[in-house]
Amino acid sequence: MNKQELADAVAKRRTFAIISHPDAGKTTITEQLLLFGGVIREAGTVKGRKSGHYAKSDWMAIEKQRGISVTSSVMQFNYQGKRINILDTPGHEDFSEDTYRTLMAVDAAVMVIDSAKGIEAQTKKLFKVVKQRGIPIFTFMNKLDRDGREPLDLIAELEDLLGIEGYAMNWPIGSGKTLLGLYDRVNNRIENYRPETEADRFSPLDDEGKLPADNPITKDASYRATLDDIELLDDAGNTFSEDKIMRGDQTPVFFGSALTNFGVETFLNSFVKYAPAPSAKKTVDGTPVEPTAPDFSGFIFKIQANMNPAHRDRIAFVRIVSGEFDRGMDVTLKRTGKTIRLSNSTEFMADSRETVNTAVAGDIVGLYDTGNFQIGDTIYSGKQDLEFEPLPQFTPELFMRVTAKNVMKQKSFHKGMQQLVQEGAVQLYRTYSTNDYILGAVGQLQFEVFKFRMENEYNSEVEMTPIGSRTARWIDPDQLDEKMSSSRNLLVKDVHGDPLFLFENQFAERWFADKYPDVKLHAKL
Ligand code: G4P
Repeated sequence: MNKQELADAVAKRRTFAIISHPDAGKTTITEQLLLFGGVIREAGTVKGRKSGHYAKSDWMAIEKQRGISVTSSVMQFNYQGKRINILDTPGHEDFSEDTYRTLMAVDAAVMVIDSAKGIEAQTKKLFKVVKQRGIPIFTFMNKLDRDGREPLDLIAELEDLLGIEGYAMNWPIGSGKTLLGLYDRVNNRIENYRPETEADRFSPLDDEGKLPADNPITKDASYRATLDDIELLDDAGNTFSEDKIMRGDQTPVFFGSALTNFGVETFLNSFVKYAPAPSAKKTVDGTPVEPTAPDFSGFIFKIQANMNPAHRDRIAFVRIVSGEFDRGMDVTLKRTGKTIRLSNSTEFMADSRETVNTAVAGDIVGLYDTGNFQIGDTIYSGKQDLEFEPLPQFTPELFMRVTAKNVMKQKSFHKGMQQLVQEGAVQLYRTYSTNDYILGAVGQLQFEVFKFRMENEYNSEVEMTPIGSRTARWIDPDQLDEKMSSSRNLLVKDVHGDPLFLFENQFAERWFADKYPDVKLHAKL
């Protein structure tokens, strides 16, 4: 590719993730997007993965489940001249630090909210991580075909709970059984729900934003209520600001129903219009690396655990930051300084793996890895040495005390522990008093994968005792007095040797804050 071809290819990339609480409709909307992208022909292709029974304790089941979720880790399609990359962020049982790290590899996020439930716990957590990155966030209020909450309420909740301005791009007319359509403020038209013919899908509005009087909808009370709401939004609502959207300070809000494919296309068209192309990424010394820079560079944000014990290979996911990726190219792995040939690369489609030959900044490639890579690694092809900023550390919420079952096998226990922690599979803490191993995770599956891999890859059976869900808060080492530790807060150090307390609950944390008002406690992301 010459310079211009590279610039054109990069400008087409739109890489994003969908964040939501389980059951809000992420899978359903993803599927609709893939249908629009022509990647799948029938609904149900992606969702099929949920139908199989999934026993948590059964690794084979996890493997099967994840085997498919691997193939859908990145979904790529062309739409309106753009190359769209959707990165999967597992919700349900698969929720883990990988989910957070995936958000480090996207340029925008789509937040799907169940309009009957509003903002739920997992959405809030994922939102926080996205917000911190300052990237655009698009909101889809889903399940409009069911009775939901008042739209004004939902917008107010965005501002109150998430601290982001909402700008309604469209507005429901009726809801649930009485849903008639969407008032589209951007395209100045009504999008009719369940039109009889394609020609009836949209009804244009006049200059005053009203339907002609002979349209039967105008007789409906919900139409008049919508006009009132629109007037209120125009007068007292937020003003549309592309700048704010780009910074993640305002979110365009779309209403719709993924299941009945209502409002999804309108959403996608706006998304394609406003979502940003890949931008520069900073190195540790603050230098931005432009996506159109000729030399290839990228970072590893996720490593998919080895699923087949017979082959120790894993898949390392690389977000390309600059330049062009060519199959078989040599790159330098910054951490070790070693040269590695990238010959076995795989790109992931909805339900098939296709070998990728070239990809550019913004794209994600999966590399077969025999143990070379770690999460956060920088790779590059140019002569100039570079290293991207490290991925953030996340605050785990679940904790386990872990010991080797067989005391004679301490060596393999320590080796496995060290490697899996380095890889980012789990976080490791040591207690101050007794130097016990405590593992931390954001999702239960991380522990299960850890246990399985310790046994199968390192031949080390482990005993894991839950110490439950805890609130982790770091403390400035200068302020620490070991006497501050009590039965309600476990004092531990992280892998960097930094001290933190694991509080039993919020009450214990508040009690601590009251007792030591001058001590500053803080969370990671
Ligand atoms: P998730 O990936 O965010 O977890 O959600 P998913 O798409 O799997 O949707 C969760 C449930 O909500 C599914 O029903 C799905 O059919 C339903 N759903 C998604 N979008 C809409 C919508 O716009 N309207 C309505 N009424 N329902 C919607 P389920 O019964 O749990 O799954 P299934 O048994 O139908 O597969």
